[in-house]
Amino acid sequence: MWTRIEMFSAVAASLGVALGIVGTEAPLRTVHMAAGTAEVSFAEEIMPMLKARCVECHGSEDADPVRLEAGLNLTSYEHVMLGSEFGSVVEPGDADGSMMIVLIEDGDMPEEGDPVTPEELAKLRTWITEGAKNN
Ligand code: HEC
Repeated sequence: MWTRIEMFSAVAASLGVALGIVGTEAPLRTVHMAAGTAEVSFAEEIMPMLKARCVECHGSEDADPVRLEAGLNLTSYEHVMLGSEFGSVVEPGDADGSMMIVLIEDGDMPEEGDPVTPEELAKLRTWITEGAKNN
């Protein structure tokens, strides 16, 4: 004997197949990727996060003198890629090897203020993995 729930899922599954719902997810995703919508934009998604959480200590124009902890300026793409006095902080294609990711994940940065949210961190990782482009 089938339970009610088993009956329901069997009916739902066959309905899904009949209506073409089941199995369409993968092709749709491929279309999105091809259209480029999966790419994270530095200007639109990364820069606003750096402005909100980091530039206070890494390049704020409001601070006098400008605060540049570790010689790191996070106010523009060019400056981010220049890195700090110790070297690069973003390694294109290698999120785990990027000092910026390491310090955020260790809870070292931002040193003060609201932490980077899991969503923001995921975007930062994706942006670096996609080659840390000026997009
Ligand atoms: C309240 C001040 C403050 C804020 C906000 C802050 N930092 Fe820092 N940051 C520092 C100080 C101070 C240092 C240098 C000393 C240290 O390494 O702890 C530093 C160092 C760093 C370094 C190390 C440079 C190197 O090459 O070793 C990185 C990378 C960094 N910060 C990234 C960030 C990021 C990304 C944010 C925003 C999510 C951020 N910081 C926010 C104060 C801050």
